[in-house]
Amino acid sequence: MSVISSGIATGSAEFKRNAAQFQLLLDDLRERRRRARAGGDAAAKERHTQAGKLLPRDRVEALLDPGSPFFELGELAGDGMYGSNPPGAGIITGIGRVSGRVCMIVANDATVKGGTYYTMTARKHVRAQRIAWQHRLPGITLVDSGGANLPDMAGIFPDSGQYGSVLHQLIRQSAEGIPQLSVVHGACTAGGAYTPALTDQTVIVRGQGYIHLGGPEIVVAATGEVVDRETLGGAEMHTFRSGVTDYLAADDRHALGVLRRLVSNLPARPAPFSPPETPRPPRYDPREIYGIIQSDSKLQTDTREIIARLVDDSRFDEFKPNFGDTLRCGFAHWGGYPVGIVANQGVLMSESSVKAVQFIDMCCKRDIPLLFMADVTGFMVGRDAEWGGIAKHGAKMVQAMSSANVPKYNLVIGNSYGAGYMGMCGRPFEPHFSFGWPNGRAALMGPEQAATTLAMVQRRKRERLGQEWSQEEEEAFRAPIREQFTSFANMNNYAANLWIDSILDPAETRTAMSLLLDLAARMPPRPTSFAVLRM
Ligand code: COA
Repeated sequence: MSVISSGIATGSAEFKRNAAQFQLLLDDLRERRRRARAGGDAAAKERHTQAGKLLPRDRVEALLDPGSPFFELGELAGDGMYGSNPPGAGIITGIGRVSGRVCMIVANDATVKGGTYYTMTARKHVRAQRIAWQHRLPGITLVDSGGANLPDMAGIFPDSGQYGSVLHQLIRQSAEGIPQLSVVHGACTAGGAYTPALTDQTVIVRGQGYIHLGGPEIVVAATGEVVDRETLGGAEMHTFRSGVTDYLAADDRHALGVLRRLVSNLPARPAPFSPPETPRPPRYDPREIYGIIQSDSKLQTDTREIIARLVDDSRFDEFKPNFGDTLRCGFAHWGGYPVGIVANQGVLMSESSVKAVQFIDMCCKRDIPLLFMADVTGFMVGRDAEWGGIAKHGAKMVQAMSSANVPKYNLVIGNSYGAGYMGMCGRPFEPHFSFGWPNGRAALMGPEQAATTLAMVQRRKRERLGQEWSQEEEEAFRAPIREQFTSFANMNNYAANLWIDSILDPAETRTAMSLLLDLAARMPPRPTSFAVLRM
């Protein structure tokens, strides 16, 4: 396998300019993460801890193997959507190691509106479960939630992908033998009461956790019965009388200790199907990526220089390097695991598209996961391109990518526009994970193109009606369109809407992908059958 030899001058003015620009994006990301991780306001946290409860992040930490990492997902979900509420969508989700076993952890944050489920809370929970299901990771739910956020009913109640899907996915995973465990740390009410009842084993904290379909107020209104919360749904009642819970714990730490013991009793984690090679760091520092990514989005970044700073030993065996050169395809190892990389180096042409088809086919036949690194403004347009059959060749690339049953990952490293977003395994094509770097942009088209397209339509309409349209009026028409497309395309918008699983710092990407490839290597291979390809 050939080693990429870098041609980057890290002392150049261009490098420094790019790096300085990238630093601003990283500072913004750190600030957003800090806000999302902070949880509820000081008063809510004070009330929470005064009641003898651990804060949700402390619960997660107490659950994890000491010193082991926690790969957080969807941390910016809901960011900026509900004013200052709810940080992190009021729920923490991520992958971590418990008693030596990699698990999906979901923890409600009761300091944020009583841990109630907003639209984005439900979607974040559903997404975490989906990832766990795909990778057969045991699911651990740390419950402390007032259930539905009632004013947000439309986003959590009626549809698939909302709160009901949390229950459905929990049931289906348990049915498939993927262990489901929970701790009831606090409120667990109404629909939420089903979460512990549906898990295989559940622990409840004495004097703190309670479970009921209807609280004391609802009971008195419905039946006239006056009953206090503890008698109605307290920990002792459920452990000794109703049997809704299985283990009684003295406090949060005790409960998490019991949970760790339950995990230690689970059958061993499956071994990788293809044993990894010894991981080797890249020959170049991944942080140099900050200076390589062009700060001017109109300039093309050299993707080989990026790959050189991510893959093991900077080795990249490029496939058909002299054909269809607007797309780089090649084999590499990442954290010791083989990976097929498909990375843009310009507009997608017919040649690059058919090259991708051949490469994807090989990866499927060899059971090699595919990483799509998107930096593309779309497929080529124009007479020559159409006469050359770009529509059918581009379609073939999309078909191959969509049909491929190997694990797929989408990483937006620059532009990801229009059909290019689709072709590079955008979210609708259900990549196992999708990430963006802070500089990433994804939209139907670029802001300028969108403004031009809509202005053209507007101008034609006015001409038809015999109306004048001055340059100033046209500019006033174009400006908000540009603005709308620019803010839409920002990765912060994608992360807030959960259209990506996380924004990654380029320097974190190697660790993240190593973990994910390790998870994927333990899944049995799934054969691929391609859709009918138009030749
Ligand atoms: N929908 C929307 N907001 C809710 C809510 C709900 N179901 N439950 C609580 N909240 C809000 C409260 O209005 C409060 O908002 P504020 O901080 O702006 O004042 C915040 O969440 C915290 O609630 P509070 O009651 O002060 O905190 P608590 O820790 O004492 O109790 C709950 C939290 C969730 C246990 C309690 O509020 C409760 O029982 N809520 C009703 C739960 C319910 O019946 N849900 C039905 C789901 S179908």
